[in-house]
Amino acid sequence: MPELDLPQRQATDALMLTGFWYRALPADRVHRNQLHKATLLEIPLVIGRDRMGKPFALRDACPHRGMPLHCGHFDGENLECGYHGWQFDVHNGQCELIPSLTSDQKLKVDRIYAGSYPCEEQDHFVWVYIPDPGPPGAGFGPPAEAPEPSPEVEKFSSKYKVAYLQAEMPVSIDHGIIGLMDPAHGPFVHQAWWWRTRHSIHEKQKHFEPIPNGFRMSAHTPSSNSAPYKLLRLYADADSITTAIDFRLPNIRTETIRAGKYWFSSLTTVTPITRSHCRIDVVAAWNLFRWVPFVPELLKYVFAKFVEQDRRTMELQAEGLKYNPHLMLIDDADRPAKWYFQLKSAYLESKRTGQPMTHPMPAPITLKWRS
Ligand code: FES
Ligand SMILES: [Fe+2]
Repeated sequence: MPELDLPQRQATDALMLTGFWYRALPADRVHRNQLHKATLLEIPLVIGRDRMGKPFALRDACPHRGMPLHCGHFDGENLECGYHGWQFDVHNGQCELIPSLTSDQKLKVDRIYAGSYPCEEQDHFVWVYIPDPGPPGAGFGPPAEAPEPSPEVEKFSSKYKVAYLQAEMPVSIDHGIIGLMDPAHGPFVHQAWWWRTRHSIHEKQKHFEPIPNGFRMSAHTPSSNSAPYKLLRLYADADSITTAIDFRLPNIRTETIRAGKYWFSSLTTVTPITRSHCRIDVVAAWNLFRWVPFVPELLKYVFAKFVEQDRRTMELQAEGLKYNPHLMLIDDADRPAKWYFQLKSAYLESKRTGQPMTHPMPAPITLKWRS
């Protein structure tokens, strides 16, 4: 019988894993001296850039009486709430001025904080670190420190091109992620004359191994049933092409293709916006075909087409999910999806107990499916 370990049976906090970096907005949409709204893990945020161009992220609610801070005034340094004019340092959220206080009123203004989140710009995106929540009812203090820098697209030479694209999906992060790692939908969803048809389906065998917080589909020569790979081998004049696909918590898929001195690398994230809504952001970097005209446009077109096919599929799937149907995950094609749910449980369990996380994959394993 197929095992069930499905989204609707998960604890609610499993949809919103804290203690990780998340992509908030494309960097080219965040302008100096301006404020932008964003939502991550159902947390309303206001994101901006100071006068020097440094990004910041605050909770979009004034600690006084909850006015959205994005409605306030920002001069490139301090943010002034639009309701009673309290002013905050945008980088740590500390209150700097309460205009209603008289000179003999001794309220310690600098002990008041608007919620502030570690914020970094990396590969065309503004990333925000979402820490574990504090005790219920507690106000905000100084911002948490992120234990490591935000994730980065791996690059293998000093010159390369970069592009990004994004798509919103009306499904939970779980369906977004398992849709992304699901090998069996390819022949049905991603048909194109230059890629593959449903008749090119054949048996495959792939090796997987555990990595910290995730798993890797080990390097191999990719499917011969696609024309672009044949072209690439010819162009790179390489004996072999290797690819590796990693998934790691909470939401990161990286893909690396290397052929001789040429490479293509991408970092895709599925970000929980709300419990029932997620967004896919793909950032790709490459040094292939850098001098051939139109290739970046062509690559972007191909990627955009794949993402649009996935987006459209999930939009339709959301229709079916509305009535909470019974679902299943089958071996071997849905095994990566099972690992994803097991990794999340293991992560939450290790947080609960304070013990090191037990990886659900004890050893490397080969999976077989037709796609
Ligand atoms: S609600 Fe922001 S200053 Fe009062
Ligand atoms: Fe897909």
